[in-house]
Amino acid sequence: MIEVKNIKKTFGDKTVIEDVSAIMKAGQCNLIIGSSGSGKTVLMKCMVGLFEPNAGEVLYQGENFTAMKGSEKTEIRKEIGMLFQGSALFDSQTVEENVMFPLNMFTKDPIRKKLERVNEVLARVNLVGANKKYPSELSGGMKKRVALARAIVLNPKYLFCDEPNSGLDPQTSLVIDRLIKEITEEYNITTVINTHDMNSVMEIGNYILYMYHGNKEWEGNKKEIIFSKNERLNEFIFASDFLQDAKDMRMLEEKGKISNDRNMEELLDKDAPILIPPPADE
Ligand SMILES: Nc1ncnc2c1ncn2[C@@H]1O[C@H](COP(=O)(O)OP(=O)(O)O)[C@@H](O)[C@H]1O
Ligand SMILES: [Mg+2]
Repeated sequence: MIEVKNIKKTFGDKTVIEDVSAIMKAGQCNLIIGSSGSGKTVLMKCMVGLFEPNAGEVLYQGENFTAMKGSEKTEIRKEIGMLFQGSALFDSQTVEENVMFPLNMFTKDPIRKKLERVNEVLARVNLVGANKKYPSELSGGMKKRVALARAIVLNPKYLFCDEPNSGLDPQTSLVIDRLIKEITEEYNITTVINTHDMNSVMEIGNYILYMYHGNKEWEGNKKEIIFSKNERLNEFIFASDFLQDAKDMRMLEEKGKISNDRNMEELLDKDAPILIPPPADE
């Protein structure tokens, strides 16, 4: 579990995070959502210690990370996996070398053992046999999966993903979302995801923190978001008429007013695009 307590972050005289608190639990996907510039990345960087907050603290399993000294922080950092925006793979290294990198950094394991672990995580992200490929030979979705494999290779307790779907098509995004969700549940990881992807919110949002101008405007789960009357949240999430219709429908559905598929079909505009496309094998 990660607790964020009254975090404040300023740059010069500009306040980017005003006062944000949150509790993010293990085994679930904790989403930080909000429009571009709302402070998602800055908040995440404060959480992992890449930025020093001006006030407030971040607790990992009840331990005050913000107050820790360098060496203590390093211990926590070893338990943190990060999936950066744009994958950030080393282009001159193979998939295998990329995924092995954290093992080389943080372990003294023999090469045989490291290779075993690399193959294990590559299998977990459905990339068996991709070891000797270079990033330039991979599709966007495959790159993300390599980056995810690298992020989990040290068996992290905490996983941070900044916009994991940026640059991906909706179907590939869904594959990545589901993979992150599965891995989160399987290994009981406290996963924190920055996103402005509506599909992700509805697919994997166990806990959702909506940021607006550096403040927590709303928090809840994906079911509660359907019923929320927060205008800013609704404007952000359900910006288009189509999504507004989808929200209304989900509300009806949740209330049990839609009793069978035929009613559902009558409500659905047949020409409308599918909100959440089916998963695809790349
Ligand atoms: N290192 C920095 N120095 C100064 N301002 C920054 C820095 N990083 C982010 N900001 C500002 O903080 C605000 C929030 O940024 P960010 O957290 O990246 O937004 P988001 O991830 O929600 O799109 C933006 O106005 C951005 O310009
Ligand atoms: Mg960002």
